[in-house]
Amino acid sequence: MGADNLTWHAGKVSADDRERVLGHQAACLWFTGLSGSGKSTLSRAVEKRLNELGAHAYCLDGDNVRMGLNGDLGFSPEDRTENIRRIGEVARLFVDSGAIVLTAFISPYRADRDAARGLIGDSFAEVWVNPGLAVCEERDPKGLYKRARAGEIAQFTGISAPYEAPASAEFEVDTGALDVDASTERVVEWLREAGILR
Ligand code: ADX
Repeated sequence: MGADNLTWHAGKVSADDRERVLGHQAACLWFTGLSGSGKSTLSRAVEKRLNELGAHAYCLDGDNVRMGLNGDLGFSPEDRTENIRRIGEVARLFVDSGAIVLTAFISPYRADRDAARGLIGDSFAEVWVNPGLAVCEERDPKGLYKRARAGEIAQFTGISAPYEAPASAEFEVDTGALDVDASTERVVEWLREAGILR
């Protein structure tokens, strides 16, 4: 297996052409954080808000992607790395299409997030969704922390598997201090400041 005997074909539509049609720049907002930190809730709220603003936004969500494309992967370090590698490739295609893609995966390893950044380049921004472990565990929306503490789930991020905090996130959102609307505004403001939204 490999990429032998292949030729990359560039199309006739440039990033500028797509931007003219869509009215905004392409981007990948890479939300990272513990389970229960609010990545899915926030990215879905941002997706909705961007749609209302007339932007072409699309959310790639952890549990959903693991039910399809990445249905063959578990939670070992190798599988998490492969999970993030595939998401990075998919996100790159979305960015190439001109979209604002919002990815919501724990993505616990710094090297894996950095690889996605390297693949996507300047259009990539890392958003650390960080209310702190105590808040995530208290929320425990899926009851997973309780089960992890009881030893029923192995390699659970934050309890028995590592989460490597971002060293180079473009910005951080404390969803413990800000509610969903305020967190969403924070993200949309950042998109404006970065010149992605006009
Ligand atoms: S990642 O680590 O590979 O980036 P991803 O975001 O796709 O994880 O999936 C995380 C979701 O899977 C969690 O929100 C939770 O619902 C579920 N999950 C099941 N087992 C685990 C585990 N051992 N560690 C973390 N999340 C788990």
